[in-house]
Amino acid sequence: MEGAGVVTAVGEGVRDLKVGRHVAYAGPIGAYAKERLIAADRVVKIPAGVSDETAAAIMLKGMTAQYLLRRTYKVGRETTLLFHAAAGGVGLIACQWAASLGATVIGTVGSAGKALIARAHGCSHVINTREEDLVAKVKDYTKGRGVDVVYDSIGKDTFPASLDCLKPLGMWVSFGQASGPVPPFKITLLSQKGSLFATRPSLGSYTETRKDLVATANDLFDVIAKGKVKIAANQSYPLAEAERAHRDLEARLTTGSTLLIP
Ligand SMILES: NC(=O)c1ccc[n+]([C@@H]2O[C@H](COP(=O)([O-])OP(=O)(O)OC[C@H]3O[C@@H](n4cnc5c(N)ncnc54)[C@H](OP(=O)(O)O)[C@@H]3O)[C@@H](O)[C@H]2O)c1
Repeated sequence: MEGAGVVTAVGEGVRDLKVGRHVAYAGPIGAYAKERLIAADRVVKIPAGVSDETAAAIMLKGMTAQYLLRRTYKVGRETTLLFHAAAGGVGLIACQWAASLGATVIGTVGSAGKALIARAHGCSHVINTREEDLVAKVKDYTKGRGVDVVYDSIGKDTFPASLDCLKPLGMWVSFGQASGPVPPFKITLLSQKGSLFATRPSLGSYTETRKDLVATANDLFDVIAKGKVKIAANQSYPLAEAERAHRDLEARLTTGSTLLIP
């Protein structure tokens, strides 16, 4: 979905992009390539000071963090949130960003090593879900109340526990399914668990217009320029070894962002 590179040719009528410009994008699918053809209004210019590698590591994941924290639920000083896979690609960006907004961030991870990384990137509390009881720990950290919002990219394995981590009227943001899809459920479950809100967002809807795409990307580049979010592109593989990258991701061995270099 996401990538960065240099413009080698432009189509007729394209005025604001020139050959040689460094650009990046988050969709449509097709980034596993050395060269690609892409609509000019879907790419953004990479600002000075940001490398192609960093841009490739953040476009999908960082713009997702942007809309999750700034639009799906407006995170601020009063917010206590739970972010699953806190040491992952989206997770490390989102947890730093949320902390910079003044929120209290509780992150989940699958190993002790990842717990250290999550703590160093904005999490006040980290729960290792392979060893600790998710709901009990969240209740501990929130004095029994639960969090305002849960950002859940795990899916099957964290349902319905994520709902039990919310306070009444809390929001469940189900934005991914690393462990498999959330099973079908009755909507009355949301009332039983405290008149909860639920949404299943995707970046595509939040950046459908050129205006939204540019605003989202600019907000992301801005927090990076100000040093509020540091980018951890922790793994890099030759594009020809994409299979190995997928195996490592599936085995939960990666942290932060992963790059494929053509
Ligand atoms: N809706 C959107 O707009 C949108 C946009 C971008 C990405 N996403 C989704 O966001 C999620 C995170 O993306 P990412 O690239 O940043 O990946 P990632 O979080 O770096 O990797 C996935 C992580 O999920 C955790 N996990 C828990 N159970 C798992 C399982 N059964 N199999 C594999 N991983 C498991 C692992 O962390 P632990 O070992 O620490 O648990 C793993 O490292 C993905 O599901 C992706 O599809 C959604």
